[in-house]
Order: sequence, then C-alpha cells, then structure tokens
Amino acid sequence: MKNIIEKELAVLEQIDIKNSEEIEQIRIKYLGKKGILSDLFAQFKNVPNEQKREMGLLLNDFKTRVENKIAMLKENMENVDSKSVDFDDLTKPATLFTLGSRHPLSIVRNEIIEIFSHIGYSVAEGPEIEDDRHVFSALNFPPEHPARDMQDTFFIENRTDNNHAVLRTHTSSVQVRVMERQKPPIRIVAPGRVFRNEAISARAHCIFHQIEGLYIDKNVSFADLKQSLLYFAKEMFGEQTQIRLRPSYFPFTEPSAEMDVSCNLCGGKGCNICKGTGWLEIMGCGMIDPNVLEASGIDSKVYSGFAFGMGIERIAMLKYDIKDLRLYFENDLRFLKQFSSAF
Ligand code: DAH
Repeated sequence: MKNIIEKELAVLEQIDIKNSEEIEQIRIKYLGKKGILSDLFAQFKNVPNEQKREMGLLLNDFKTRVENKIAMLKENMENVDSKSVDFDDLTKPATLFTLGSRHPLSIVRNEIIEIFSHIGYSVAEGPEIEDDRHVFSALNFPPEHPARDMQDTFFIENRTDNNHAVLRTHTSSVQVRVMERQKPPIRIVAPGRVFRNEAISARAHCIFHQIEGLYIDKNVSFADLKQSLLYFAKEMFGEQTQIRLRPSYFPFTEPSAEMDVSCNLCGGKGCNICKGTGWLEIMGCGMIDPNVLEASGIDSKVYSGFAFGMGIERIAMLKYDIKDLRLYFENDLRFLKQFSSAF
C-alpha cells in the first residue's frame, strides 16, 4: 500500500493538464467511487493494527494532495482561458464605437451665441407657451391688425380678457420678458423654438427655431445696428461677406429693415442658391419702436435700441447647403452623422 501511494504521488506530480475534461478524468481516477483512493481506503481495513496509524496518516495526506492538485489544475485552466480571450489576436482591428454629434441646428445656434457673446451679449430665455401680450400686444401689434395674420398662430386657450394663451410665433416675445424685468443697458440674444400653423413642406414647418437680439441703452443709433450686424455677418460667413439693408415693415421696429448677406457660393455673381441675385436674406431688424419700450416701462425719451431676429434653420441651410427643412426634424442618422463641430 505504501508503494502504491508513493508511485501515485510521483505520477500526480507530473500531471499538467489544461482542459477541463482531462481534469475531470483525473478526478474520477483518484477520487471517483471506483477510484484509487476508495480502493486504498477499502484495503485499509486489512492493514494490521500496528501499521494503521502510519498508513492512516499516509492515506489522508495522499487524499489532501490529490484534492490540492486538482484544485490547482482547475485554477490554472481558468487563468489560461481568460488570457486566451484577452489576447486572442492583437492584430485584429478594434471594435469601433459610434460617437454622437451635435445637431446642425445646435451647432449653428451655439455659433451665433458665441459670436454675439464677444460683443457683450448674454443669453435670455422665455416660455414657449406665451400669452397674447408678450407675443403681440406689447410688441405694438394692435388688436385686429393684419400683421397678426402674417404669423399663423396656434391658440391654446381663449381668454375673455383677450390675453389668449398661444404658442409663441417668434422669439421677439423674449424681448418683452427681458424689458419687463431688467433696466437698460440691455444686451441679449434669445434663442428658442417657435410655432406656426403652416403645412409642412421642404420650405416651411410648423416648428422652427429663431434667435432674437436686443440692445437698449442711451444713444443707440441705426449706425450701431448696422455695424453690429456687419460684424456678425463677417464672423458667421467669412471676412469677405458684405451686407445690405432693405426697408421693410415690422410692428415693433421703426424704421425696419431686412438684412441680406452677399452670397458666399458665387461671391455675389449670382447662382442657384441666391437665385441669381448675389444676395441672401437672413434676418429682420430695426430700431425698437418707442411704443414697445413704453409698453414694458422703459422711458423712450431716455433710451433707444435696436432688435433683430433670424431663423436658425435658414442660416444652417445656407451654411451646410441643406435643401429640405424636414431633414432637421426626422432624425435620420445618415443626415445627422455628417455634422461634427467643437461647439
Ligand atoms: N419676429 C420677426 C419674425 O418672426 C423677426 C424679427 C424682425 C425680429 C425684426 C426682430 C426684428 O427683432 O427687429 O418674423
């Protein structure tokens, strides 16, 4: 019996196995019901009494060694397995993960905010669900004035006091909110979503984005307006960009103008994008009508100011040559993936 144990211990020492099936076979060989150990324990009964103590110790020691060896083989095998997964093939191309990118409207909005922040403008916000006063009355739209029809308003609630709840049709409403709570000097840009009841097409949508600008202080003149907008146009579209102001009408500004920038694509010669004119219309602007200042408690004899408003979709269309407004809202990844920017 002693011989068998010594022989088997030597064999056990040599075993070096890496797969679990072989380890199981070893376990059965030594520890199984008909295995070497149960055989030895059976023979143990016949060991003469005076040898029992020595043999018992030997046998138990052998059993412990077998168990330890099997545990060690299993542990080695697990290490080998996990290594083979980690370092499978180092030359394999890595799995790429997809990075998101900003929406083109966010990129353009942030760029406009950044440009105006350099000349002292901060960002103001107002609610999308507004009332008649902030969208129309305080901006000098008289009741029943046809200019209200220019903006197909979504009405939410008809109130008896005529101050209906509406979805704002323009971000000019934020002008009023700021004038009500802030004393001049005021220098803000107000980006946000606006809503108009329009049929959806390549050129019109019922939701779009505007950015409004407002500057009020003592002695603000039309020359300040023109110079600020020229600065913006050059920053946005390039140093060579020129602007022109055409007379227009808005109830809240007097005089009012529409601003065009020289077409970047054809350098002003005329192309498809500018429809042969060399100019692209990008915003409305003007000197704030004294009635608007007074309606929000600002003394129009002391203060003057200018305002401007532009569509973010339109600027992004010009910047990225996007021909269909609906693309902005469909969230098609093939479209969205094309835009990346530090903004
Ligand atoms: N609110 C006008 C619109 O939605 C845009 C606009 C025009 C804003 C002239 C202004 C402005 O601040 O002075 O069509």
